[in-house]
Formats: sequence, structure tokens, C-alpha cells
Amino acid sequence: MSFFDLISSRHSVRAFKEQKMSNDAIEKILAAGTGAPSAGNLQSYQIFVVSKKEDKKRLAVAAHGQDFIERSSTVFVFCADPNTSAREYGKRGEDLYCIQDATIACSYAQLAAHSLGFSSVWVGSFIEGEVANTLGLPSGLKAIAMLVVGIPAEKPEITTRRPLSEITHIMM
Ligand SMILES: Cc1cc2nc3c(=O)[nH]c(=O)nc-3n(C[C@H](O)[C@H](O)[C@H](O)COP(=O)(O)O)c2cc1C
Repeated sequence: MSFFDLISSRHSVRAFKEQKMSNDAIEKILAAGTGAPSAGNLQSYQIFVVSKKEDKKRLAVAAHGQDFIERSSTVFVFCADPNTSAREYGKRGEDLYCIQDATIACSYAQLAAHSLGFSSVWVGSFIEGEVANTLGLPSGLKAIAMLVVGIPAEKPEITTRRPLSEITHIMM
């Protein structure tokens, strides 16, 4: 599949068949995510891989009852690491770069999951403290995105995008 076909054929899925993901697939998704660019190549994030049903259930509760999370194969939780970025870049690193680093990594991982034949949805609506408790996060890390990945049990809704003219500005 071409890169552009890969992007245009990815749609969020929120219903999954309960099926385990192989370690090989998990590693490929992680390798793609960590292949993303990051400020100063510091990779100021940590990624938690959650496969156990009881942990996914707790993440679903933390995500305001988004129950499909429990039935996914694997949840990749991307956490920003502000201290690592701050050491090199001060406040800009602490407030911005670590979030961007983690976000880009999550985007690459989402495309990799799609490329491997999985479906996914990015989940950003959750109570940070509850996610931190579930993962046992050290105080310096901030969970910013869950990438919920699995085998689809529904046809995704085909979403559209705003016209380019509304959101782009070509400077001549
Ligand atoms: C920052 C962010 C937060 C999101 N949070 C949620 C969420 O909590 N629950 C959910 O079902 N989808 C969530 N989504 C998925 C979006 O709703 C979805 O990507 C968007 O509607 C476009 O649809 P598509 O992914 O099929 O292209 C989130 C996406 C992003 C980028």
C-alpha cells in the first residue's frame, strides 16, 4: 500500500474482537513509534504497553467508561517526560517539546498498527490520575494519549475533513 493510501484508509474503530496481539506486532508498532522525530532526539516520552484484561478494564474506567478499550488487543499509553526535555530545553521543553515528542510517536505507531492490519483509535479523554495509578507512573511522567489497537468488529465510520481552504494559508 502506498503511503498516501495508508493514510487515507485509516479510520478510527471503537469495537474490537477480543484477540491477543503477538509480541512481534507489538515490537513493530513500538519500533515505528520510536522512529518518529523528537526534539534533540531526546525521545522525551515513555510508552506503556497494556495487554492484561483487568488493566485494560481500569483504563476503560479511567477513560470515562469507553468500554471498547477493555476488548482491544493492546493499549499503548504514551506519556510525556517533561524532565528529560526540560534538562535540554528549559520551559519550552517542559511545556511543549515533550508533548510533541510523545504525540508524534503515537501518530507513527497508529499508522504502523494500520499497516500491520490492525484497527485503532486514539483516546485522549481520560482522568490522568486514574491512568497514572493503573500504570504505576512515577510522578514525573504525564499520560497524554492512549492508542487502543485491536481486530475490528465493526466497519469504521468514514469521516471527512474540513476543506483545505478553511485551515491552510499559502503565503505568496
Ligand atoms: C487528541 C485526540 C483525542 C481523541 N480522543 C478520543 C477519545 O477519547 N475517544 C474516542 O473515541 N476518540 C477519540 N479520538 C479519535 C477522534 O475522534 C478521531 O480520530 C476523529 O473523529 C477522526 O476520525 P478518524 O480517526 O476515523 O479519521 C481522539 C483523537 C485525537 C487526535
